[in-house]
Amino acid sequence: MKLLVTGGAGFIGSAVVRLAIAQGHEVVNLDALTYAACLDNVASVADNAGYAFEEADIRDAAALKRVFDTHQPDAVMHLAAESHVDRSIDGPGSFIDTNVTGTYTLLEAARAYWDGRGRPEAFRFHHISTDEVFGTLGETGMFTEETPYAPNSPYSASKAASDHLVRAWHETYGLPVVLSNCSNNYGPFHFPEKLIPVVILNALAGKDIPVYGAGLNVRDWLFVEDHATALLTVVTKGEVGRSYNIGGNAEARNIDLVHMICTLLDDLRPAAKPYAEQIRYVTDRPGHDLRYAIDATRIRDELGWTPTVTLAEGLAFTIQWYLDNEAWWTALQNREGVGKRLGVA
Ligand SMILES: NC(=O)c1ccc[n+]([C@@H]2O[C@H](COP(=O)([O-])OP(=O)(O)OC[C@H]3O[C@@H](n4cnc5c(N)ncnc54)[C@H](O)[C@@H]3O)[C@@H](O)[C@H]2O)c1
Repeated sequence: MKLLVTGGAGFIGSAVVRLAIAQGHEVVNLDALTYAACLDNVASVADNAGYAFEEADIRDAAALKRVFDTHQPDAVMHLAAESHVDRSIDGPGSFIDTNVTGTYTLLEAARAYWDGRGRPEAFRFHHISTDEVFGTLGETGMFTEETPYAPNSPYSASKAASDHLVRAWHETYGLPVVLSNCSNNYGPFHFPEKLIPVVILNALAGKDIPVYGAGLNVRDWLFVEDHATALLTVVTKGEVGRSYNIGGNAEARNIDLVHMICTLLDDLRPAAKPYAEQIRYVTDRPGHDLRYAIDATRIRDELGWTPTVTLAEGLAFTIQWYLDNEAWWTALQNREGVGKRLGVA
């Protein structure tokens, strides 16, 4: 299959690109190369004959038309987005521009291309979204594909809006779409502003390890390479018009996750004192959802996908990757404006 992957220079997109090439697909990686992108993430496949890169913005209709006409993809996997909740609190505008207007522009470009080819049934537009569109859970319960949308942050509201657009382009125009909503990803190439890299890198630097509020927020953690497998399963086998929840079966409170990382680091890179002594509680993020949990029964029963990596295995692998790849993360940390902010007082 020839896949047009948007956001393929980002964290999850690059895992999809690497896996798709390994599985024998052709890949066109379309990315605007924002602050969050890093072409080193796909360096391992850049010389592959089946790989092409297009620097383009999903809000640029003319550029999208050129890319569709040039490459003639069989499917779109749409991951390009503004993705950092904290940044969406400071500056929601770019989240509306990219996640809503950009998704609309991409849908229109895909529709024109699909119409122009005689509306092939096998074409797919796969929209990659988040469990954050469902809002927050209490102590119990799980998000299913039927859970009503109730987004609480500018980020999740912009993703919810894009999900609705994708659904509507299927219902109104017949565009063959599939959707997936996943939990928090982690793993190699995770941008150094996100929670797990922040914990690892602050610990190693001897800095405070910040934990929002009392650290009681619960997230389900999905190893990014498991997620990439799930996404390629959805785009190749998913039923048109259907959405699939993807989770890691790995719920943890933030404070427990941070302690797990500190304990693993104590083994892998022992310091004079246990890393947990660097933990500091900081003012909570406004609108901070208490708990997310994914019921991934549908993708397991209908498409045969389950996560394979436990949280303990995935964290150990990830920490070792950060220890082995200092040049990668120091270059990103040195980018203008990166890591300057945590939370709004
Ligand atoms: N990271 C997670 O835990 C998580 C969880 C659930 C869903 N998601 C979703 O998965 C997708 C990928 O997330 P990620 O963590 O890899 O994000 P990321 O921020 O690491 O990467 C996003 C990529 O999109 C590109 N991009 C941004 N704006 C663009 C534009 N206007 N045009 C073209 N390219 C643009 C960036 O340059 C970057 O390479 C997003 O849609 C996100 O909402 C992420």
